Amino acid sequence: MKTLSRREEMRRLGASFRSGKLRVGFVPTMGFLHDGHISLMEEAKKRTDIIVVSIFVNPLQFGPSEDLARYPRDPAGDAAKCRNAGVDYLFTPNVSEMIDEDPLVFAGMSKLTNVLCGVSRPGHFQGVATIVLKLLNVVQPSLLYLGAKDFQQTVVIGQMVRELFLPVKVIVRPTVREKDGLAMSSRNSYLFPEERKAATVLYRAMKLVEAKLKTGERSAELLKAIVLREIGNEPSARLDYAEIVNPATLEPLMRIEKEARLVLAVWIGKTRLIDNLSLKP
Ligand code: PAJ
Repeated sequence: MKTLSRREEMRRLGASFRSGKLRVGFVPTMGFLHDGHISLMEEAKKRTDIIVVSIFVNPLQFGPSEDLARYPRDPAGDAAKCRNAGVDYLFTPNVSEMIDEDPLVFAGMSKLTNVLCGVSRPGHFQGVATIVLKLLNVVQPSLLYLGAKDFQQTVVIGQMVRELFLPVKVIVRPTVREKDGLAMSSRNSYLFPEERKAATVLYRAMKLVEAKLKTGERSAELLKAIVLREIGNEPSARLDYAEIVNPATLEPLMRIEKEARLVLAVWIGKTRLIDNLSLKP
């Protein structure tokens, strides 16, 4: 595995792979890698000639009062995990390589970026879309691997790729979970032991909704009430939002007639966790 931090070197390599008709699979990350990230690399390994992973804690996607400064980092451990997963190139640019001192150009799409997580994290998805667009321009992959754990992110990036005719195929892979159902996340490392136990409430609530749907319940209001009750019963949990949405447009649904997505964000103490589940009637 080769590690590179210079944008120009990465861009030149990306261009040479493209002209040599080598398929590059790209997994963008913010590091502190876990099995969710590794699952994306393993999938890329199966389908592409070259795997590029980026580790870049992107300041554009953190709000002023968010956890940018304390976001967990483990460069040596991450490099070892990438090497084990068969990654070919690890791209670790610093902030000045990727972001102008006074940036003027951003990618955003109000209908998709101002809803759900975009409400409590204004500017977040604009920051995500902007950095992913920049990374795609540098790495020039054929396939982009994303995790369904960040559902809204997959919708936002998918829309950007389609609408801007970006020459990349987006592959969304299932959420990897801990044994008790908690979705793996770098931010789980913030949880105190008691909070870690309480954090299973997200998965529990989603599974209850799924079970109720199986009994024939179709009302989004009644299904969401189950989430509200479960979260309400967990003293260290506070609901940010729970919605049942059209998986393409993120618009809230009244009834579940076709495949829908249950999306939720919950504060466990000072840590905000997100999760989602496909609901098929
Ligand atoms: P990060 O949170 O590091 O996640 C990198 C990729 O791993 C994303 O596509 C995310 O959805 C996926 N991922 C995270 N947890 C997962 C899990 N439990 N199962 C499966 N996949 C999982 O998402 C970001 O970084 C950033 O926003 C980024 C796209 C890199 C832009 O800065």
